[in-house]
Amino acid sequence: MADQITLMVVAFTAAVVLVHLIYRAWGNIQGRRERNKVDTNHGRLPPGSTGWPLVGETLSYYLSMTSNHPTKFIEERERRYKSDIFISHLYGEKMVVSADAHFNKFVLQNEGRLFRAKYPKAMNIMIGKYGLLTVHGDLHRKLHGIAVNLLRSERLKVDFMEEIQTLVHSTLDRWAEKKEIFLFKECHQMIINLMAKQLLDLSSSKETSEIRKLFIDFGNASVALPIKIPGSTYFNGIKSRELLIKKILETMEERRQHPEVAHHDLLARLMEEGTLSEEVICDFILFLLFAGQTSFRAMPFAIKFLSDCPKALQQMKEEHDAILKVKGGHHKLNWDDYTSMKFTQCVINETLRLSNLAAGFFREALEDTKVKGYVIPKGWVIFAFTTANHLDKKFDAPLKFDPWRWQQNQDSSYDPFYIPFGAGARLCPGYNLAKLELALFFHIFITRFRWETLANDKISYLPLPHLTKGLPIRLHPRE
Ligand code: HEM
Repeated sequence: MADQITLMVVAFTAAVVLVHLIYRAWGNIQGRRERNKVDTNHGRLPPGSTGWPLVGETLSYYLSMTSNHPTKFIEERERRYKSDIFISHLYGEKMVVSADAHFNKFVLQNEGRLFRAKYPKAMNIMIGKYGLLTVHGDLHRKLHGIAVNLLRSERLKVDFMEEIQTLVHSTLDRWAEKKEIFLFKECHQMIINLMAKQLLDLSSSKETSEIRKLFIDFGNASVALPIKIPGSTYFNGIKSRELLIKKILETMEERRQHPEVAHHDLLARLMEEGTLSEEVICDFILFLLFAGQTSFRAMPFAIKFLSDCPKALQQMKEEHDAILKVKGGHHKLNWDDYTSMKFTQCVINETLRLSNLAAGFFREALEDTKVKGYVIPKGWVIFAFTTANHLDKKFDAPLKFDPWRWQQNQDSSYDPFYIPFGAGARLCPGYNLAKLELALFFHIFITRFRWETLANDKISYLPLPHLTKGLPIRLHPRE
């Protein structure tokens, strides 16, 4: 019996090794074939492997992104090819992956000239034809301008400042009643409520909680392999997208039926403007709802990091208790109060560095591009993997939560190793709103509650960055 088991183990191990060798050999042959296709007069493609047929190297990438060592995929290939720019096959497409921070920033800054945004198929389908990241040229400039205008600093200082605080207080009143909550889910709902109000004039309701559920499938599908069979992640995402678009269309129709009811949201402004088609408005609003949710992920991440780092939590408490004292209680904060939160800004920077809410950027080369002696041919997609830059050894102990590292360097806009909001023509128009939401949330949460975490959560970056157990916590109101 023991012999049989030994034999089975040996056979299994040999099979695994064989499959692995075939995989490596197949990927390398395909990689070489791709390289040979490129005109040698222009240079050579970066080294690399395109992995298995169809799935490419997606599995290794996924395993790395769900482990506690998210840069493993990159580091292994850097060692193998002696290059931080290499070819691979991810999300169903062959592409050039770059972990070179300077090149990544260069790519982003040359949007529309040398490169242009081109996300993998699943993401494109979920975003739709007019979802900002999929539009280019004049229409992109126009829609980007509308988003910038919606989120301009005068609006943040007045409307959003007021509305976020009201929303956070009323949400925390509900949390106080529940006592134990899953912070990840609750923050998601809170931010959906904020965006749904701004974009579609929807108040918190069963409807907004339905929207949150639809966006879970929507988000997961946007980074899935585009396999459209019933029950697949991608299939479920497409269904959710259809329902979300239907909701926006119904809202538009209702407004046409009842023009006497005034609305002060983005949808009303876009409908009044009169030059955008129904399809453009739907995709644009849907994308803003989706992109606008990104900040919710940073909230539980930060609370987890602070819970695991009592010294930082204490400093946050001191900063926010001092503001509370000056205000004489929970009175509305103004812009000066917000800008006085210096340590909070460090916590936000560090949280965004570690949480990598956008794993990287996808850009198509508009002409042959030379880099480090290689050529990236026109039409190839570059995955500028900024997660590797944020977790680079350039940061001391890169996986450690260390908000103090930002104390000397609060303005990170020139640092190519830190671009959580992107750069160039597609720089996130919501970055000031995101920072404001986070700071106001921290102020209210930390001054109203003490908490205990109820599970040992881990970070996973797939399908989108999250905490594996959703951060269950028990709340205790502070005196
Ligand atoms: C912590 C929160 C956020 C992070 C980390 C983040 C990150 C990003 C990044 C990296 C991009 C650039 C994508 C690319 O160049 O391919 C982007 C674009 C965008 N973001 Fe954000 N974002 C956040 C919050 C928000 C919010 C709150 C909004 C709006 C309410 C928003 C709206 C957008 C829009 C509309 C774009 C597309 C810009 C364009 O293509 O012209 N984001 N975001």
